[in-house]
Amino acid sequence: MNEYRNLKSLKVLGLAVVAMALSACGGDGEGPPKPPPPAPPEYADKHMPDGYWNNPEILKEGEAIYTGQHNIDVNCASCHGKNGKPVKAGARDFRRTEQMELYSDAVWFWRVNEGVTGTKMKAWKSKLSEDEIWKVIAFEATFGLNGKEWDVAANKWVAAGAAGSAPAASDAPAGDAAH
Ligand code: HEC
Repeated sequence: MNEYRNLKSLKVLGLAVVAMALSACGGDGEGPPKPPPPAPPEYADKHMPDGYWNNPEILKEGEAIYTGQHNIDVNCASCHGKNGKPVKAGARDFRRTEQMELYSDAVWFWRVNEGVTGTKMKAWKSKLSEDEIWKVIAFEATFGLNGKEWDVAANKWVAAGAAGSAPAASDAPAGDAAH
Protein backbone atom coordinates (compact mmCIF):
# COMPACT_ATOMS: atom_id res chain seq x y z
CA MET A 1 0.00 0.00 0.00
CA ASN A 2 2.98 2.22 0.54
CA GLU A 3 4.72 1.14 -2.61
CA TYR A 4 4.25 4.40 -4.37
CA ARG A 5 5.54 6.34 -1.42
CA ASN A 6 8.52 4.05 -1.04
CA LEU A 7 9.34 4.45 -4.69
CA LYS A 8 9.13 8.17 -4.36
CA SER A 9 11.37 8.26 -1.33
CA LEU A 10 13.84 6.02 -3.12
CA LYS A 11 13.98 8.56 -5.87
CA VAL A 12 14.44 11.36 -3.38
CA LEU A 13 17.18 9.33 -1.72
CA GLY A 14 18.89 8.83 -5.07
CA LEU A 15 18.86 12.56 -5.66
CA ALA A 16 20.19 13.23 -2.18
CA VAL A 17 23.05 10.80 -2.73
CA VAL A 18 23.94 12.46 -6.04
CA ALA A 19 23.75 15.88 -4.42
CA MET A 20 26.00 14.70 -1.60
CA ALA A 21 28.51 13.27 -4.06
CA LEU A 22 28.55 16.51 -6.04
CA SER A 23 28.93 18.83 -3.08
CA ALA A 24 32.46 18.60 -1.78
CA CYS A 25 32.59 16.62 1.44
CA GLY A 26 33.74 18.26 4.61
CA GLY A 27 32.94 21.61 6.12
CA ASP A 28 31.25 21.80 9.52
CA GLY A 29 27.76 22.72 8.34
CA GLU A 30 25.46 19.90 7.38
CA GLY A 31 23.82 21.87 4.61
CA PRO A 32 20.07 21.80 4.06
CA PRO A 33 18.13 19.07 5.92
CA LYS A 34 18.24 15.74 4.11
CA PRO A 35 15.61 13.08 4.61
CA PRO A 36 17.06 9.79 5.83
CA PRO A 37 16.28 6.63 3.88
CA PRO A 38 13.12 4.84 5.00
CA ALA A 39 13.62 2.19 7.67
CA PRO A 40 13.83 -1.36 6.31
CA PRO A 41 10.53 -3.27 6.57
CA GLU A 42 11.63 -5.25 9.63
CA TYR A 43 11.98 -1.95 11.52
CA ALA A 44 8.74 -0.36 10.40
CA ASP A 45 6.90 -1.57 13.47
CA LYS A 46 9.54 -0.62 16.02
CA HIS A 47 8.26 2.17 18.19
CA MET A 48 9.14 3.92 21.41
CA PRO A 49 7.66 1.97 24.34
CA ASP A 50 4.62 3.61 25.92
CA GLY A 51 5.43 6.21 28.50
CA TYR A 52 9.09 6.67 27.52
CA TRP A 53 8.98 10.03 25.77
CA ASN A 54 9.76 12.84 28.19
CA ASN A 55 9.73 10.52 31.18
CA PRO A 56 12.34 11.95 33.59
CA GLU A 57 13.42 8.50 34.82
CA ILE A 58 13.90 7.23 31.28
CA LEU A 59 15.72 10.37 30.22
CA LYS A 60 18.10 9.97 33.14
CA GLU A 61 18.91 6.42 32.11
CA GLY A 62 19.19 7.53 28.48
CA GLU A 63 21.65 10.24 29.47
CA ALA A 64 23.78 7.74 31.39
CA ILE A 65 23.95 5.56 28.27
CA TYR A 66 24.62 8.54 26.00
CA THR A 67 27.51 9.83 28.10
CA GLY A 68 29.19 6.49 28.71
CA GLN A 69 28.36 6.25 32.43
CA HIS A 70 26.23 3.20 31.86
CA ASN A 71 28.77 1.35 29.71
CA ILE A 72 32.17 2.83 29.08
CA ASP A 73 32.25 1.23 25.61
CA VAL A 74 29.17 3.17 24.58
CA ASN A 75 29.77 6.88 24.56
CA CYS A 76 27.58 8.68 22.06
CA ALA A 77 28.70 12.03 23.50
CA SER A 78 32.28 11.35 22.42
CA CYS A 79 31.14 12.05 18.85
CA HIS A 80 27.77 13.73 19.13
CA GLY A 81 28.72 16.00 22.03
CA LYS A 82 27.22 16.23 25.50
CA ASN A 83 24.52 18.63 24.34
CA GLY A 84 24.01 17.21 20.84
CA LYS A 85 26.54 19.54 19.23
CA PRO A 86 28.93 17.23 17.37
CA VAL A 87 32.51 17.06 18.54
CA LYS A 88 33.65 14.70 15.77
CA ALA A 89 33.42 15.72 12.13
CA GLY A 90 30.50 14.18 10.32
CA ALA A 91 28.52 13.20 13.42
CA ARG A 92 24.86 14.10 13.18
CA ASP A 93 23.97 17.37 14.90
CA PHE A 94 21.05 16.49 17.15
CA ARG A 95 20.20 20.14 17.80
CA ARG A 96 19.00 20.71 14.22
CA THR A 97 15.26 20.47 14.60
CA GLU A 98 14.58 20.57 10.83
CA GLN A 99 16.87 17.58 10.32
CA MET A 100 15.75 15.57 13.33
CA GLU A 101 12.09 15.97 12.44
CA LEU A 102 12.71 14.06 9.22
CA TYR A 103 13.30 10.86 11.19
CA SER A 104 10.62 8.64 12.64
CA ASP A 105 11.26 6.73 15.84
CA ALA A 106 11.66 3.56 13.73
CA VAL A 107 14.35 5.18 11.57
CA TRP A 108 16.25 6.31 14.64
CA PHE A 109 16.03 2.89 16.16
CA TRP A 110 17.26 1.29 12.94
CA ARG A 111 20.20 3.68 12.65
CA VAL A 112 21.33 3.21 16.23
CA ASN A 113 20.82 -0.54 16.08
CA GLU A 114 22.62 -1.09 12.80
CA GLY A 115 24.75 2.00 12.35
CA VAL A 116 25.40 3.84 9.11
CA THR A 117 27.63 1.89 6.73
CA GLY A 118 30.70 3.75 5.60
CA THR A 119 30.64 6.24 8.49
CA LYS A 120 31.93 6.30 12.05
CA MET A 121 28.41 5.61 13.26
CA LYS A 122 28.60 1.94 14.11
CA ALA A 123 25.96 -0.60 14.99
CA TRP A 124 25.24 -0.56 18.71
CA LYS A 125 23.05 -3.65 18.90
CA SER A 126 25.85 -5.80 20.31
CA LYS A 127 26.38 -3.31 23.17
CA LEU A 128 22.85 -2.10 23.87
CA SER A 129 19.57 -3.91 24.41
CA GLU A 130 16.48 -2.74 22.53
CA ASP A 131 15.26 -1.13 25.71
CA GLU A 132 18.53 0.75 26.17
CA ILE A 133 18.42 1.96 22.59
CA TRP A 134 14.95 3.40 23.15
CA LYS A 135 16.14 5.15 26.29
CA VAL A 136 19.09 6.73 24.56
CA ILE A 137 16.83 7.82 21.69
CA ALA A 138 14.36 9.39 24.12
CA PHE A 139 17.26 11.35 25.58
CA GLU A 140 18.74 12.27 22.22
CA ALA A 141 15.39 13.67 21.12
CA THR A 142 15.58 16.30 23.85
CA PHE A 143 18.35 18.19 22.03
CA GLY A 144 16.44 19.29 18.96
CA LEU A 145 12.84 18.26 19.26
CA ASN A 146 11.92 20.34 22.29
CA GLY A 147 9.91 17.69 24.02
CA LYS A 148 8.05 16.48 20.97
CA GLU A 149 7.23 12.81 20.64
CA TRP A 150 6.57 10.57 17.66
CA ASP A 151 2.90 9.84 17.08
CA VAL A 152 2.74 6.44 15.39
CA ALA A 153 -0.82 6.74 14.13
CA ALA A 154 -0.37 10.27 12.82
CA ASN A 155 3.09 9.45 11.47
CA LYS A 156 4.61 12.70 12.72
CA TRP A 157 6.13 14.50 15.69
CA VAL A 158 3.58 16.02 18.01
CA ALA A 159 3.67 18.03 21.21
CA ALA A 160 4.60 16.23 24.43
CA GLY A 161 1.73 14.13 25.75
CA ALA A 162 -0.25 14.35 22.51
CA ALA A 163 0.95 11.11 20.93
CA GLY A 164 -1.50 8.26 20.88
CA SER A 165 -4.27 10.35 22.36
CA ALA A 166 -6.17 10.53 19.09
CA PRO A 167 -8.31 7.38 19.52
CA ALA A 168 -9.66 8.56 22.89
CA ALA A 169 -12.32 10.59 21.17
CA SER A 170 -14.53 10.49 24.25
CA ASP A 171 -11.97 12.61 26.11
CA ALA A 172 -12.31 15.40 23.65
CA PRO A 173 -15.86 15.74 22.42
CA ALA A 174 -15.99 17.24 18.96
CA GLY A 175 -17.33 20.73 18.79
CA ASP A 176 -16.84 21.24 22.51
CA ALA A 177 -16.98 24.96 23.13
CA ALA A 178 -13.78 25.56 25.04
CA HIS A 179 -14.45 29.20 25.65
C1 HEC B 1 32.69 7.33 16.72
C2 HEC B 1 31.71 8.40 16.60
C3 HEC B 1 30.25 8.13 16.92
C4 HEC B 1 29.73 7.56 18.06
C5 HEC B 1 30.46 7.06 19.29
C6 HEC B 1 28.29 7.57 17.88
N1 HEC B 1 27.94 8.11 16.68
FE1 HEC B 1 26.06 8.41 15.96
N2 HEC B 1 26.82 9.17 14.25
C7 HEC B 1 28.15 9.34 13.96
C8 HEC B 1 28.29 9.82 12.61
C9 HEC B 1 29.60 10.15 11.90
C10 HEC B 1 26.98 9.94 12.10
C11 HEC B 1 26.55 10.41 10.70
C12 HEC B 1 26.31 9.23 9.83
C13 HEC B 1 25.84 9.68 8.46
O1 HEC B 1 26.62 10.30 7.77
O2 HEC B 1 24.68 9.40 8.14
C14 HEC B 1 26.09 9.53 13.16
C15 HEC B 1 24.71 9.51 13.03
C16 HEC B 1 23.84 9.18 14.05
C17 HEC B 1 22.40 9.21 13.92
C18 HEC B 1 21.63 9.62 12.70
C19 HEC B 1 21.67 8.55 11.68
C20 HEC B 1 21.29 9.07 10.34
O3 HEC B 1 20.68 8.34 9.59
O4 HEC B 1 21.59 10.22 10.03
C21 HEC B 1 21.90 8.82 15.14
C22 HEC B 1 20.44 8.70 15.51
C23 HEC B 1 23.03 8.54 16.00
N3 HEC B 1 24.18 8.76 15.30
C24 HEC B 1 22.92 8.11 17.29
C25 HEC B 1 24.00 7.69 18.07
C26 HEC B 1 23.86 7.09 19.37
C27 HEC B 1 22.56 6.89 20.11
C28 HEC B 1 25.12 6.78 19.78
C29 HEC B 1 25.52 6.07 21.05
C30 HEC B 1 24.90 4.79 21.30
C31 HEC B 1 26.03 7.20 18.74
N4 HEC B 1 25.32 7.75 17.70
C32 HEC B 1 27.40 7.08 18.80
C33 HEC B 1 29.21 9.08 14.81
C34 HEC B 1 29.12 8.48 16.05
